[in-house]
Amino acid sequence: ADLPAVRAALLAWFDRAGRDLPWRVGPEGGRDPYRVWVSEVLLQQTQVARGRVYFERFLTAFPTVEALAAAPVEAVLKAWEGCGYYARARNLHRAAGVIAREGMPTTHEGWRALPGVGPYTAAAVSSLAFGEARAVSDGNVRRVLARVHGERQPTEPWVQARADELLDPARPAAFNEAVMDLGAMVCTPRNPRCHECPVSAWCTAFASGEPASFPAPKVR
Ligand code: ADE
Repeated sequence: ADLPAVRAALLAWFDRAGRDLPWRVGPEGGRDPYRVWVSEVLLQQTQVARGRVYFERFLTAFPTVEALAAAPVEAVLKAWEGCGYYARARNLHRAAGVIAREGMPTTHEGWRALPGVGPYTAAAVSSLAFGEARAVSDGNVRRVLARVHGERQPTEPWVQARADELLDPARPAAFNEAVMDLGAMVCTPRNPRCHECPVSAWCTAFASGEPASFPAPKVR
């Protein structure tokens, strides 16, 4: 694929058609790393439509990391109701305590050291909130890149390598959100809307005529 062309087309599409989501803008216009962090933890187990509702509820209960750190864990678990995986809520609360004492990390490495923060969350927060040149890899990213490259069996290291090479280091937040939004809105698992896709001209799966057959279903 022509990576510079794909990158440019993706970002131009995102600037025009990307979603307005409540964690993409903070109270003062810029990004609030706390909002980005909470949303990314929430969205690991919940679709965006439902995640929005839970996000607003959680942020109303705990508007800042200091408020979360100061709350009793029971109140945090209560606000997490319906979101499942209570270990995530417990880890959010524990990590908020660390942040309240030691300050908020500003790098991928710093985030990775917090309880419950894995490679995905660290990459998401460091790129989306701090502008670090880190590509995220999740299910949407995997599907988009498997299709563009015509890879039926993308492994996790393959996906990360393709995302890293396509990332725009000048606009890491927009790039990561562009791939997420494309995967959610256009490059969907079934019946992808290839006629609306900004990168179909460079897409191997589109050229094959069977775009939805990439990637192949996972063998379990
Ligand atoms: N899924 C996970 N993180 C997301 C984000 N920041 N925007 C949209 N969908 C997402």
